[in-house]
Amino acid sequence: MSSSKLVLKFLSQQDMIAAGVTDMSYCIDMMDEAFALLGKGDYVMGGSTRNSHGQRVWFPKEPAFEGMPKGGPDQRFMSLPGYLGGRFKICGNKWYGSNVNNPKNHGLPRSILTMTLNDPETARPLAIMEANILSGMRTGAVVGLSARYLARDDSETLGVIAAGPISKFCTDAIAKALPSLKKIVVFDINADAANRFCEEMSEKLNIDVSPVSTFEDAVKGQDVITSAISGDHTPLFEEKWLKEGSLLTLPGRANVEDDYLRGAYIVPDCWEMQKTYKIEGMMLPEDERAIPHSQLHNLVDSGEIAESEIQDLGKVAAGLADIDKNSAKRKYFISNGMILQDIAWATAMYESAVEKGLGQDLVMWDEPYRV
Ligand SMILES: NC(=O)c1ccc[n+]([C@@H]2O[C@H](COP(=O)([O-])OP(=O)(O)OC[C@H]3O[C@@H](n4cnc5c(N)ncnc54)[C@H](O)[C@@H]3O)[C@@H](O)[C@H]2O)c1
Repeated sequence: MSSSKLVLKFLSQQDMIAAGVTDMSYCIDMMDEAFALLGKGDYVMGGSTRNSHGQRVWFPKEPAFEGMPKGGPDQRFMSLPGYLGGRFKICGNKWYGSNVNNPKNHGLPRSILTMTLNDPETARPLAIMEANILSGMRTGAVVGLSARYLARDDSETLGVIAAGPISKFCTDAIAKALPSLKKIVVFDINADAANRFCEEMSEKLNIDVSPVSTFEDAVKGQDVITSAISGDHTPLFEEKWLKEGSLLTLPGRANVEDDYLRGAYIVPDCWEMQKTYKIEGMMLPEDERAIPHSQLHNLVDSGEIAESEIQDLGKVAAGLADIDKNSAKRKYFISNGMILQDIAWATAMYESAVEKGLGQDLVMWDEPYRV
């Protein structure tokens, strides 16, 4: 008979680093496994469609109570629950809060994240872990996975828009996925950030990484382009700048032209999740409505793009999609992030921590209180 004593593991940021959370090549492989399960349907996410990205704590723009935070694009809390099958068979929830003023006012990162893993059968918590690095890594690794499956084998150049932490993870992952890469250029509205990015990434990757002074220069003629800007601006990637056969891989906001979408392979991370975003977005008041990729939804709704032509990365990883990555057709990958990615990487870290004897064991109870 199994014990009713409940002990779970707590993993600090140092424990996570010792467990291997910064190992990008391993993380890309874990994302590959998680996406193949997504493509086969062996997963459940939250919400009534079982495909919701997560639930947001939506503060009002003008709170009526003293102390309640004021709503804004970067003042929020978010919970992402889900289950991942395959050899994982585990539930998880990522819970985070974000405040754009954290770095300036409190010396803290903009977002602070924690991750919990649970046994799906008994609901027993297995681990609680620091998840800032975990989350950035899984975001970058999926962009690397998109490069593995969608970039041409002869890709030599990468254009990076924005020099923030997410772009660093994405650049590392793309370089790991594309050994043919020879040159990286980066554009950021903050020239100091771009220069720091070049110094750090050229040393880390041993590739030529240089700043460029315009957005267009970072996009035009590149084999692969990635963008992770923050703030309110959504840049337009003009069709004429995007090279034949190129991959535009987007963890962040972007606008493209309708003609570009009509002629490209369209690969979302998970199309069912993108459809759920639309359903949930329509429930918001009109002035607060923000539906990711509404341009793509409009083209599908008007019949200009057949839904059957959209093949998500899960299907690609599961070998169920039909995409010729070496063709002259351009590829458009969009990612909003899924709990399945966090669960896969958190499970790998939990297993590594158990094997290496890392972290603290927390006793929740010796015997459960019985009424
Ligand atoms: N898809 C996912 O799973 C996922 C996960 C996490 C974050 N994200 C996205 O990544 C974005 C970036 O995250 P971060 O933590 O690196 O943010 P950050 O604020 O730390 O850095 C963003 C960088 O973008 C630059 N920037 C802002 N506007 C720009 C513009 N118009 N042109 C060029 N550069 C510009 C800023 O100067 C800054 O260097 C987030 O806003 C979010 O949209 C996606």
